Amino acid sequence: MPAIVVLGAQWGDEGKGKATDLLATSQPIDFVVRTSGGHNAGHTIVVNGEKYATHLLPSGILTPGATSVIANGVVVSPEALFAELDGLVERGVEIAPLVVSANAHVIASYHSTVDKVTERFLGKNQIGTTGRGIGPAYGDKVNRVGIRVADLFDEGILREKVEAALDVRNQVLAKVYNRRAIAVDAVVEELLSYVDRLRPMVADTSLLLNDALDDGRTVLFEGAQATMLDVDHGTYPFVTSSNPVAGGVCVGAGIGPTRIDRVIGVIKAYTTRVGSGPFPTELFDEDGQNLQRIGGEIGVSTGRTRRCGWYDAVVARYASRVNGLTEFFLTKLDVLDSWERIPVCVAYEVDGVRHDEMPMTQTEFHHATPVYEYFDGWGEDISGCRSFEELPKNAQVYVKALEEMSGAPFWAVGVGPGREQTIVVNDL
Ligand code: GDP
Ligand code: IMO
Ligand code: MG
Repeated sequence: MPAIVVLGAQWGDEGKGKATDLLATSQPIDFVVRTSGGHNAGHTIVVNGEKYATHLLPSGILTPGATSVIANGVVVSPEALFAELDGLVERGVEIAPLVVSANAHVIASYHSTVDKVTERFLGKNQIGTTGRGIGPAYGDKVNRVGIRVADLFDEGILREKVEAALDVRNQVLAKVYNRRAIAVDAVVEELLSYVDRLRPMVADTSLLLNDALDDGRTVLFEGAQATMLDVDHGTYPFVTSSNPVAGGVCVGAGIGPTRIDRVIGVIKAYTTRVGSGPFPTELFDEDGQNLQRIGGEIGVSTGRTRRCGWYDAVVARYASRVNGLTEFFLTKLDVLDSWERIPVCVAYEVDGVRHDEMPMTQTEFHHATPVYEYFDGWGEDISGCRSFEELPKNAQVYVKALEEMSGAPFWAVGVGPGREQTIVVNDL
């Protein structure tokens, strides 16, 4: 099974870190690769009760024997990269080898300044970004004024590119946002300070990964963010600025679509979202507060409370479709242990019309209200279950029903944050 993609099927924080860690430790994995996003991600891994969080680094950094890769589609803050590496080393973690693409775009401190300034300017229309500079860095990339990792190794070129990047940006900062302009010298100096440490890590990661696949090695692509946050397929404009869907993996890694063998969508047994934007099954009552509390729904990167709601099968089917999912990994089933009755959204009603599939326009999606089907709860602790048969009957019915309505078979079900708290339903 040489090329496996793991990605988020909802609005993020589905448990991609756990899924990656589980796959990377249950079979020999040679490479764990990030292909989009940056340090806006927060992936949690729990090993022997010990909790680790990765942001820009692939979770594979914790897997002995695997090489971690930050591919061309990622936006790399060298400051965040080294802070994260140092943080893990301080905790005594043995760091796996890390390779960074020469073509990855760089996030400098001015990107996060611009991110925060623009958010403030948007007022009540703000996206609720992580403030990490993700949007401005991808904006520069698309506007062809971005700075790439390879540019850091030639001071003359770097200076030229920083000048070009700041030319219009400084005018906007000063004249629109009433902010001080950013000094070219300071940015060049900031970026040059990382060169010595970065240089040995940099390579042509597309070549590296294609060679590895040619040799029959196993490559795991660890998605960040999620389908509904995708800039093309998500709830635009309340999205991130990259393509976290499966297609983004090819662009973000420089591999062809024919190389991918499996696409696993990670999905919670309910739904959460951080930041602004539409969310049809969102709860504003005690159930929402209980999901938040029992599920520990607090952002790993920003510490923000996550909005919570019931499972949305329309979103699941949509994720299955736009990613070509071969399997789902259903996480956090244990969080639902205490409910007597569990609603599941099976369709939407939009202005009096039933929609079984995602409505075509964002306006319709904003107007969507859930059509619920109700399932009996199981009322007992399932965190110790290790096989499907051990699950209470009602939990089995819930899982089977979700599987039937979600558009792809379930590979596994999570019953706790620990690596071992997983029930494999269908072997890969
Ligand atoms: P990611 O961004 O997709 O990697 O997910 P996060 O790490 O941001 O959030 C998922 C949270 O759920 C983390 O705290 C995980 O430790 C936790 N988690 C993952 N799977 C399960 C599960 O099956 N049950 C429970 N209770 N927690 C889980
Ligand atoms: P992981 O990988 C959840 C959300 C932000 C905001 C929007 C845009 O842990 O699942 P950005 O800073 O990317 O420009 O913010 O996207 N967002 C996430 N939400 N999990 C994430 O990552 C996210 N990364 C970005 O909250 O709404
Ligand atoms: Mg997360």
